[in-house]
Amino acid sequence: MRLKTNLLSSLFALMPLTVSASEALTFEQGNQLMREKMCLGCHQIDKKRVGPAFVDIANRYGGDSDAAMPMLLNVIKNGGRGKWGAVPMPAQTQVSDEQARDMVLFILSLQQKPQ
Ligand code: HEC
Repeated sequence: MRLKTNLLSSLFALMPLTVSASEALTFEQGNQLMREKMCLGCHQIDKKRVGPAFVDIANRYGGDSDAAMPMLLNVIKNGGRGKWGAVPMPAQTQVSDEQARDMVLFILSLQQKPQ
């Protein structure tokens, strides 16, 4: 519990209080889904790990979420490469279409408004 609370409060410190996509999961639900589906083995919310931080992905694509949705769904289902560095992302076959959609909405909801 304590860990989760700390993570939440550190996230709120760098995030606007409103999420842009109304259908997005709550932070806690999104984080839980990412944890269960092993995304957090390579990604962190706000720091680059093996893969880019989810906040950085949101900032890159969040301005046009209609275009980003099908593109990012495809990366989750089939893998991706060449956009963030030398390491490719493997296809995440353990994720259902609906879960992938929830994940993309959750990631895009992390977009930080320009200061
Ligand atoms: C084995 C490590 C690994 C795992 C597991 C992983 N990713 Fe990635 N992910 C990466 C890497 C590396 C990249 C950067 C690929 C590139 O340069 O195009 C990436 C990129 C992404 C992108 C941005 C794609 C783009 O085209 O800009 C999204 C979104 C993403 N991952 C979501 C997820 C989600 C959701 C999961 C869990 C279902 C997940 N990843 C699991 C390594 C991983």
